[in-house]
Amino acid sequence: SLSNEELHQRIQKVRDELGSKLLILGHHYQQDEVIELSDLRGDSYQLSKLAAESSDCRFIAFCGVHFMAETADILANRPEKVAERNGQRVTVVLPDMAAGCSMADMAAIDQVENAWDDLGEVIDTNDITPVTYINSAASLKAFVGKHGGIVCTSSNADKALQWAFSRTSRVLFFPDQHLGRNTALTMGITEEQMPVWNPYAQNLGGNTEAQLVDSKVILWQGHCSVHQMFKKEHVATFRQNHPGIKILVHPECMREVNEIADVSGSTGKIIETVRHSPAGTKWAIGTELHLVNRLKKEHPEQEIHFLSPVVCMCATMYRIDLAHLCWSLENLAAGTPVNEIHVDEETAKWSRVALERMLEVSA
Ligand code: 13P
Ligand code: SF4
Repeated sequence: SLSNEELHQRIQKVRDELGSKLLILGHHYQQDEVIELSDLRGDSYQLSKLAAESSDCRFIAFCGVHFMAETADILANRPEKVAERNGQRVTVVLPDMAAGCSMADMAAIDQVENAWDDLGEVIDTNDITPVTYINSAASLKAFVGKHGGIVCTSSNADKALQWAFSRTSRVLFFPDQHLGRNTALTMGITEEQMPVWNPYAQNLGGNTEAQLVDSKVILWQGHCSVHQMFKKEHVATFRQNHPGIKILVHPECMREVNEIADVSGSTGKIIETVRHSPAGTKWAIGTELHLVNRLKKEHPEQEIHFLSPVVCMCATMYRIDLAHLCWSLENLAAGTPVNEIHVDEETAKWSRVALERMLEVSA
C-alpha cells in the first residue's frame, strides 16, 4: 500500500490536471490530511451553500458523509445551474460509500410516512410543518418539501423553526431530538410541549393522544451517537479542575449538557468562537475529536481540552481517507467515475423545495 505522502502527490496530480473543473469539499470533522487537500471546508450549511453556488466546476468530490453528498448533488444540479452550464451536470462522488450517518439512518422514509399517517388520526396534519435537520436522507427531505416544510442545519435551526411557526402552530422535527429540543427551548417552548416520537413504539410513537394534542414540537427519536457521549459530569469535572474554563459544545449534545455550556453552536461557530478568543482562554470542547484536535494544533496560544474522557469520533466521517480520495479522483480524471451520488429527479425536485427554503431564511 502507498504511503500518505505518495497518495498526497497522486491526489495533487489530479487536482493540477482537472484545475477549476474539480472542487474538493471537506467537512470540519475530516482528518487533517484530507482537509489539507480540500479546496474549501465548512460546516454543513456552508458546504451546502458552496455546492449551490459552484459555477464552473464539473466534479465535486465530497469529503464528508452520504447525506452531504446528496445535498451537494441536489443543489449543484438545480435546473437553472445546469442550464447555465449548457446542460452539463456536476458529477458528485463520495470517496467511500460506507460513509453514512447513523443519525440520518434513524429516520427511514417508511417510518416517517407511517408516523405522519398515525399523527393524522389525532391532529390535523395541515397544522404541522415538518422540519428536517440536513442530516437526513434525500427521501426525507423530499417528504418535507412536499408537505410544506423546511430543512435546517445546526447553524439556522432557530430561523427554520421561526419560519415553521409563522405557518402552523406545530412542528414535527426530524431526526435529531437534541437539536430540536435545544432549539425549541430557546424559543420558550417547554419540554412538556415536546413529546418524543419513537418510530418503534406500537401506538402513537409511544405518546398519549393528549400529549400530541398539547404539543408544539414533536421530536423524532433520533440522536448522534458521537455527541450523546458528552455528559454533564464531564462539564462538572472540568469546571472543578480548571477554574475559569469555558465549555463549548455542539447542539447535537443532550439538553443537560447544552444548557450548562457557555457556548453552543455548529462546527463553524465553534471554530469562529475559538478564533476570536484571546490567548490564554481555556476551553473544553464537546464535538467530534478530529475537529477538536485540529483546533488544539491551530491555537497553541489557548488551552484546549476534549470534553469527554473517552474518545468520541465519527467512525463514518473517518472512512474518508487519502486512499479512497485518490482512488475516486483518479477514476474521475479517467472518465470512469466511481461512487457517484445522483439523487433521482423526483426526489431531488422536492428536496430542493425544502433546501431552498432553508437557504432563503438563512440568507
Ligand atoms: P455542522 O458542521 O453543521 O455543525 O454539523 C455537524 C455534524 O454532525 C455533521 O454531521
Ligand atoms: Fe452523523 Fe453524528 Fe457523524 Fe455527524 S457526527 S455525521 S450526526 S453520526
